[in-house]
Amino acid sequence: MFNKLRLWKTGTTTKTLQDQISNVKQQKIPEHVAIIMDGNGRWAKKRKLPRIAGHHEGMKCVKRITKMADELGIKVLTLYAFSTENWKRPKTEVDYIMSLPEQFLSTFLPELMEKNVRVTAIGYTEKLPEHTLKALDNAVEKTKNNTGLNLNFALNYGSRSEILQAVNNIVKDSQTGELDANGITEEVFSSYLMTGGLNDPDLLIRTSGEIRISNFMLWQLAYTELWFTDVLWPDFKEEHLIEAIEVFQNRQRRFGGV
Ligand code: IPE
Ligand code: IPE
Ligand code: MG
Repeated sequence: MFNKLRLWKTGTTTKTLQDQISNVKQQKIPEHVAIIMDGNGRWAKKRKLPRIAGHHEGMKCVKRITKMADELGIKVLTLYAFSTENWKRPKTEVDYIMSLPEQFLSTFLPELMEKNVRVTAIGYTEKLPEHTLKALDNAVEKTKNNTGLNLNFALNYGSRSEILQAVNNIVKDSQTGELDANGITEEVFSSYLMTGGLNDPDLLIRTSGEIRISNFMLWQLAYTELWFTDVLWPDFKEEHLIEAIEVFQNRQRRFGGV
């Protein structure tokens, strides 16, 4: 167990993180949690550091939150790490972000294996630099038979383009007769998205105070519970994840019913 001794205040009582974990585990844990990890640049700016220092700190946060997701029994953790729009950033920043999967996996892969975590990715990963893709592919391959938490990175992901790609592939498969054009249900459409076999997220978290979706899982979020926090991603701690889940547990999901 990690962080056993860390203390913090909740209301009037002080609880250990471990107590908080066992409490939250008594109710339903969301199966699929997706996070828009935002605020790395502002975290760095506040400290008069270059933006890449924020991305480095953000990577440490990914480790912390992955471990906690595993401990809580979350089945899928999708992390939005790079969008199809993020290429607009200065080259030095993009280059640094593209070095993070290698940095992250070279130090963390043994622990992921030990914890039975399976690494997957969504997004146009074939357009990533070769060294980035190599590190990612290696992790995906090494962890492919693991049966624990699915750590799913959205890398060079954009939802509008994902939807268009699905439409184009559906048209193609209808023309070749592989798909019956009259039988395109929501399930069929979903299966053409990059999230293919995954259930839709139950909970979406966005850090850094921005209240928007930024081209993330537009189809899949139809009935997801949304939780926004002002905390910047590098400052996002285990207790914030627990807080989000507590809020989720107190929401009533109606899916259009009563
Ligand atoms: C999120 O942090 C990381 C990526 C989008 C890659 P930002 O880099 O967007 O941080 P802010 O929003 O500028 O603070
Ligand atoms: C969303 O953050 C993308 C990722 C976290 C990877 P951005 O910082 O790119 O989003 P905007 O520009 O604030 O909408
Ligand atoms: Mg941002």
